[in-house]
Amino acid sequence: MSTPAVRVRLGDRGYDVTVGSGTLASVGERVRAALGDGATRAFVVVDANVPGEHVNTLTGSLDRAGFGAQTTSFDPTEKVKTIATAQRVLESLAATGQDRGDPVVALGGGIVGDVAGFVAATYRRGVPVVQCPTTVLAMVDASVGGKTGVNLEVPGEGGERLLKNMVGSFHQPVAVVADVDVLASLPDRHVRSGLAECVKHAMIAQTISGEDLMSWLETNADRVLGRDPGAMTELVRKSVAIKADAVASDERETAPSSVGGRALLNLGHTFGHAIETLPGISPDPADPSRAPLHHGEAVALGLVAACACSARLGMIDAAWSDRVRALLGRLGLPVAVAGLPGNGELLARMGHDKKVRAGVLRLVLPEGDGRAQVVEDPDPSAVEAGLDAIRA
Ligand SMILES: NC(=O)c1ccc[n+]([C@@H]2O[C@H](COP(=O)([O-])OP(=O)(O)OC[C@H]3O[C@@H](n4cnc5c(N)ncnc54)[C@H](O)[C@@H]3O)[C@@H](O)[C@H]2O)c1
Repeated sequence: MSTPAVRVRLGDRGYDVTVGSGTLASVGERVRAALGDGATRAFVVVDANVPGEHVNTLTGSLDRAGFGAQTTSFDPTEKVKTIATAQRVLESLAATGQDRGDPVVALGGGIVGDVAGFVAATYRRGVPVVQCPTTVLAMVDASVGGKTGVNLEVPGEGGERLLKNMVGSFHQPVAVVADVDVLASLPDRHVRSGLAECVKHAMIAQTISGEDLMSWLETNADRVLGRDPGAMTELVRKSVAIKADAVASDERETAPSSVGGRALLNLGHTFGHAIETLPGISPDPADPSRAPLHHGEAVALGLVAACACSARLGMIDAAWSDRVRALLGRLGLPVAVAGLPGNGELLARMGHDKKVRAGVLRLVLPEGDGRAQVVEDPDPSAVEAGLDAIRA
């Protein structure tokens, strides 16, 4: 229990994010400390691709702390991140007869965390949730901040359209425990995808906490790519500290554009969401078989587009854009892709993004040196310059 934690300061809903090597074995005692003596059971939602040894470590820890642990699992894809999957998990949870004080525990990537969080937010009108993230992206981003939810499939021209995270709820976890040892089995492409969110944090860090994460990433890129446990622990802690401060200042993302707040975390995402659900886009223009894009790859492209948009508006100089591009490239992330539809279609897709308020597009744009700001209704020609910058 001596591993230092990052605190998400949200008053009586505040919680610790514990990051380190071997921390999964301490989840039971941490949850007991957070919830007190009343709870007697725990329902663990497991990512089907997390090796069984980690599942056993977690359930063993919960059992030792007096939580009779039961599990359910699913193989996560954006297609199955739906109300139907949440309902199936809710039915399994209801079958255990778990009480209002008993926690749901998520062991998995961002999809499992979002679905389990949504289940916890809605079962018996809300039960505690514990996040045990197992991907880089889930550790540095999805497990912290309380956003939960599922995608919605709606009829659209030419077939069904997936509206990402359209249904959900804010439901803060009571504890987050990230064990970097679990990353050993994560496929390389997913490690790199998660690093895109770290670059995003580096691009807003100075606005939020004064951390120079950009220089740290440039210096430690090789250790990070090698999944050195010490480097991963440091990176996850630094990244979570930035996210935690943004969340603490603006929990429900309601701060005005002039302040920025939690919305700054959407840097690159409005551009990214417009291309993430296009089925035929590959991160490697020379290898179409790698389509579709992963979330983090779309974010990486979104960061490049945001830089080009900012540059057109005169908000940043070329040196910062070059640094961002170079770092993304070094981390094995795409900076341009082939086969994107025309700007008209992409602009329309950006208009569907949840960050549009009252029909006005709000983009988070970099200002250089780890700073960013929200820009309302940016000049469409600058947005198009952003889109053009990511065409291979
Ligand atoms: N709630 C939030 O604030 C928030 C923030 C960012 C992203 N998200 C959501 O997160 C999701 C993306 O999360 P992700 O990138 O973690 O993807 P993911 O959940 O799809 O996981 C990626 C893949 O890795 C597998 N996996 C997970 N851990 C593993 C491990 N340790 N070893 C081997 N395989 C493992 C998963 O089964 C999956 O196949 C998106 O749905 C996105 O909307 C949520």
